[in-house]
Amino acid sequence: MAERGVETHFQISARLDDVATERLDLRRFREGDLDQLEGIFAKPEVWKFPYGRGLSRGETEAFLSAQIAGWETHKFGCWLAIERKTRKAIGYIGLSIPTFLPEILPAVEVGWRLDPDVWGRGYATEGAKKALERGFEMLGLREICSVPQSGNAASERVCRRLGMRWRRTVRIPPNDRRGPLQAELYTLTMAEWAEGRLDSPPGRLRGTRHEMEGSSRRQHRKHE
Ligand SMILES: CC(C)(COP(=O)(O)OP(=O)(O)OC[C@H]1O[C@@H](n2cnc3c(N)ncnc32)[C@H](O)[C@@H]1OP(=O)(O)O)[C@@H](O)C(=O)NCCC(=O)NCCS
Repeated sequence: MAERGVETHFQISARLDDVATERLDLRRFREGDLDQLEGIFAKPEVWKFPYGRGLSRGETEAFLSAQIAGWETHKFGCWLAIERKTRKAIGYIGLSIPTFLPEILPAVEVGWRLDPDVWGRGYATEGAKKALERGFEMLGLREICSVPQSGNAASERVCRRLGMRWRRTVRIPPNDRRGPLQAELYTLTMAEWAEGRLDSPPGRLRGTRHEMEGSSRRQHRKHE
């Protein structure tokens, strides 16, 4: 969810580079990114989850500062996503520490938040695939999670397209800007990711939430 960027109880030695995908340039945030980010983050759809409204300039500035500080501390974070064909910033995609959900720490989350003008083009999936690849291959993470808020169908769909498995519904504790939330915990291990790369045709879905719910219902029935 990357509400406020990363905080300081997680250290990784490798450094995440700026990268390019087929249609996107993904790079570290810079101070000068505020104006373009403000225009995107002010749109209510972009922060519907978790705030139900767009961000003020001050809130976007705090987000940007936290991202820049997080990159300094941890050497990884969310990238600013730039659509190569227009050279325009379209939001962020990348890795962060899900400090909003202490029960799963230490953990690294893959997340995304894009301008509605470019939704539906597969950019979130394209950028997040690169984040997973770098997280597993360069940072050496054993597992990466994603925690879309319950009801955020587009984000759950992206998780499933990435081959992530639904694990369980979780309760995110309240903070000073919002109440408690319900969210869906998805994970992907390095082994699952490597297996998916070798064996699966692109876009194959494994371990979807509905399959997991079905299998857990079947297990319940076995014990009845
Ligand atoms: C989540 C988000 C990044 C998706 O962006 P995107 O570029 O459209 O994502 P993709 O095109 O890669 O994939 C979107 C998938 O979700 C589906 N989708 C989009 N909107 C949907 C909706 N309202 N309900 C159900 N599915 C939806 C698309 O059909 C697509 O699935 P498909 O591959 O089966 O066609 C974008 O909706 C967003 O920025 N939302 C606001 C920020 C946010 O909530 N971030 C997550 C915080 S945890």
